[in-house]
Amino acid sequence: MYVCVFLGILAISVVHADLGTLRPHILFILADDLGWHDVGYHDSEIQTPNIDMLAAEGVKLENYYVTPLCTPSRAVLMTGRYLIHSGMQHGVLVAQNPRCLPTDEILLPQMLKDSGYSTHMVGKWHLGFCKFQCTPNHRGFDTFFGEVPMFIYLPFQAVHAPLQVPDKYSDMYKDTIHDESRRTYAGMTSCMDEAIGNITRTLKDKGIWNNTVIVFSTDNGGARTFGASNYPLRGQKASNFEGGIRGPAFVSSPLLDPLVRGTINNELMYIGDWFPTFMNLAGGHVIGSKPLDGINQWETISRGVPSKRVEIVYNIDPLWPGCKSSTRDTWIGNPYFDICVSAAIRVGHWKLLTGHTGCSNWETRPEIAPKSRTVESSDDGMVRLYHIKEDAEEKVNLVHYRPDIVFMLLQRLHYHNTTAVPPGEVDKFSVRADPARHGMAWNPWI
Ligand SMILES: *[C@@H]1O[C@H](CO)[C@@H](O)[C@H](O)[C@H]1NC(C)=O
Ligand SMILES: *[C@@H]1O[C@H](CO)[C@@H](O)[C@H](O)[C@H]1NC(C)=O
Ligand SMILES: *[C@@H]1O[C@H](CO)[C@@H](O)[C@H](O)[C@H]1NC(C)=O
Repeated sequence: MYVCVFLGILAISVVHADLGTLRPHILFILADDLGWHDVGYHDSEIQTPNIDMLAAEGVKLENYYVTPLCTPSRAVLMTGRYLIHSGMQHGVLVAQNPRCLPTDEILLPQMLKDSGYSTHMVGKWHLGFCKFQCTPNHRGFDTFFGEVPMFIYLPFQAVHAPLQVPDKYSDMYKDTIHDESRRTYAGMTSCMDEAIGNITRTLKDKGIWNNTVIVFSTDNGGARTFGASNYPLRGQKASNFEGGIRGPAFVSSPLLDPLVRGTINNELMYIGDWFPTFMNLAGGHVIGSKPLDGINQWETISRGVPSKRVEIVYNIDPLWPGCKSSTRDTWIGNPYFDICVSAAIRVGHWKLLTGHTGCSNWETRPEIAPKSRTVESSDDGMVRLYHIKEDAEEKVNLVHYRPDIVFMLLQRLHYHNTTAVPPGEVDKFSVRADPARHGMAWNPWI
C-alpha cells in the first residue's frame, strides 16, 4: 500500500513536470449538437464504445459548460474569451451575413503556431467566410499534416441535422429504438464513434499515441426535434438552461497520471478554458493574446486540484425580444440589470437566468416514451435562480427565497455588461453571397 501510494506520487511529479516539455500532440474533437444523454457512458441506449473507452481511460468532465449554439461555442473555443467580448453573443453566422469572428481576435491555432506547433483542421468552421481573411487558413491553420508536434482540430458535422446515416448504423437500433428520428440520430452517433475509434487506432499505428492528448466535447446541447436527448437536464440546444449548455466532455491520454485516469471530475470548467490549457501543454505562454476569460485547467484535469474558475458568464444578448408591456415582475426596475434582457451567469453553485431563456421544457427518458418525450414546464417568471449542485435539473426557482443572491448575481451581470462589445450587424444579408455568382459553391465574396 505504502509502495503504491509512494509510486503514485512519484508518477505524478514525473508525468506532471514533463508535460510542458513533452509538448504533446493535441487532438480536439468537437461533436455537433450531441446531447448530454447521448454518450454511452451517460447511461444512454446509444452505443459509443470508442468514446466510452477513451473516457474510461481518461478524466470525465461532468461540470463542463459550452454555449447553446454552434458559432458561439466555436468563437469561445478559438478565442478563449466570453461571447460578450468578441461580439458573437447573438445567434449563429448565416452564410449571407457579411460578418465573421472579428479578424483582430487572436486565435488558439495562431498562438500554437507561434509555439512551434503545426496546426490542422478538418471539419466545420462556422466562424464566417465572407472574405478570405475570415477563413481557417488565414487564421492560424496550416493546410497540411506537418511534423510534430501537431494540433488537430476535428469539428465533426455529426450529429447535427439533417438526419441521415447509412442503414447499417441505424439498423443497430432496429429492435431497441422505435422513434425514427432517434434511431437515425443514434446511428449517426455510433458512426461518429466508429470514426473516433479509427482515428485513435491510426494514432496508435503511427506510434504517436503515447504522446497525444485527446479532448472530446460537444459544441452545445442536443436538438430534440432531431432525435437528440439531454435527459435529465432541462431545455435543449439554443437554451440557457442546462440542457443547452452543459456538455458531455472528457480528456484522454496515456500521459495522464494513473491516479486520475478513470475518474470523474466535477470541477467547474468552460469551453473557453481550452485556449490557455492547450498553451500550457504546448509549453507556450499567452502573452500577446487578447485578455482571456479562459483559465488554464491542466492542474485540475491532471491532478484533481480545485478549479480556479468560480464564475461563468454564459451570455448577455441584448437582441432577443424583451418583456411584453404586460409583464409584471418585482425585479423590473432593480438598479443593476435590465431583467428583460436575455442573460445567464453562474457564480459558485448559483445560476441566474433573465429574460428570454430558449426552450424551458424537461423531457422523459427517451427510451421510456420515445414518441412523446417532452414534459411541460411551469412558468417561472423573468428571473430564475437555481442552486445547480443541489438542483441540476433546474426544478426549484429560488428567486423569492434568496433575494440576496439575486442581487449579487444581477450586480455581476451589470459589471460584465460594462465590458461587452455590441453584436455586429446580425440582420444584414448580402445577395453577393449567392452561390449562383460563385460557380454554384459557397465562397468568400467580399
Ligand atoms: C473505420 O475504418 C474501417 C476500416 O478501415 C472502415 O471500413 C470504416 O468505414 C471506418 N469508419 C468510419 C466511420 O470512417
Ligand atoms: C513514444 O514512443 C516512441 C516510439 O517508441 C518513442 O520514441 C517516444 O519517446 C515515446 N514518447 C513518449 C512521450 O513516451
Ligand atoms: C448593457 O450596457 C449597455 C451599454 O452600456 C447598455 O446600453 C445596456 O442598457 C446594458 N444592459 C443592461 C441589461 O443593463
